[in-house]
Amino acid sequence: MGARIIDGKESARQVKAEVAELVAGLQYRPGLATVLVGDDPASHTYVKGKRSDAEEVGIRSTHHELPGDVPQADLEMLIDQLNSNDEVDGILVQLPLPGGLDSERVVARIDPAKDVDGLHPYNMGLLVLGRPGLRPCTPSGVMRMLEDNDVVVAGRTAVVIGRSFLVGRPLALMMASKGVDATVTMAHSRTPQLAEVARDADILVAAVGVPRLVTAEFIKPGAAVVDVGINRVEDGLAGDVDFDSVREIAGSITPVPGGVGPMTRAMLLANTLKAAKARRGA
Ligand code: GUN
Repeated sequence: MGARIIDGKESARQVKAEVAELVAGLQYRPGLATVLVGDDPASHTYVKGKRSDAEEVGIRSTHHELPGDVPQADLEMLIDQLNSNDEVDGILVQLPLPGGLDSERVVARIDPAKDVDGLHPYNMGLLVLGRPGLRPCTPSGVMRMLEDNDVVVAGRTAVVIGRSFLVGRPLALMMASKGVDATVTMAHSRTPQLAEVARDADILVAAVGVPRLVTAEFIKPGAAVVDVGINRVEDGLAGDVDFDSVREIAGSITPVPGGVGPMTRAMLLANTLKAAKARRGA
């Protein structure tokens, strides 16, 4: 018996169809500005995908590329220009930025109303407070996938392995929030007896960036397993979950690729629409 596969591509298709329909009903085209610094091939691929998704659903994307040695002040000046450009509803600065640039300062420079990545300290603060706001794309995508696949979260035990500001930390907060109501443990690479802690989880999320760290011994039989990892390894891409051994024990599991990745991209579109409607009042 193998676990049910949670199909991120299908959920992403649904989110995109919903966004496209809503965008078609607007009197304007929402605008997404993407900012790419340096020549990291993976970042180029990600941004290209995000831009083509945007066009697909009727969001106008404008792209800004800067050399890896751009001075911090120039990058911040571009952010200022995008902040004051009325046609721009969302600003996405692809991370990580090349060494020498202070990404925290760059993200904090983005107008929180245009922060479609949900990474600005103001939006993070709203999340901590349980107030509405723009939420980070990957955790939002995980929540939506669980919902689409009828994975019950309320009253269940969730373990999130990873405490990054992009994924683990916000996801743990979202799962523990009022109305979602999981009981959450945020574990990480330094958690003692990690497998034992993980084995408590009805819902196990791996977002730690260690290829195939999560093996069968981490899994409570029947658990839902969400693999956020995208790690480059010798034989291609690997998630944080050892898919082949874990699928024998889990109740459901997200694959890599085709799991969380497509959802991150789809939720960026949903956030851009949300930001546009909030900014423009309809
Ligand atoms: N790099 C990896 N994931 C993300 C993301 O969700 N947003 C941005 N801006 N950069 C990333």
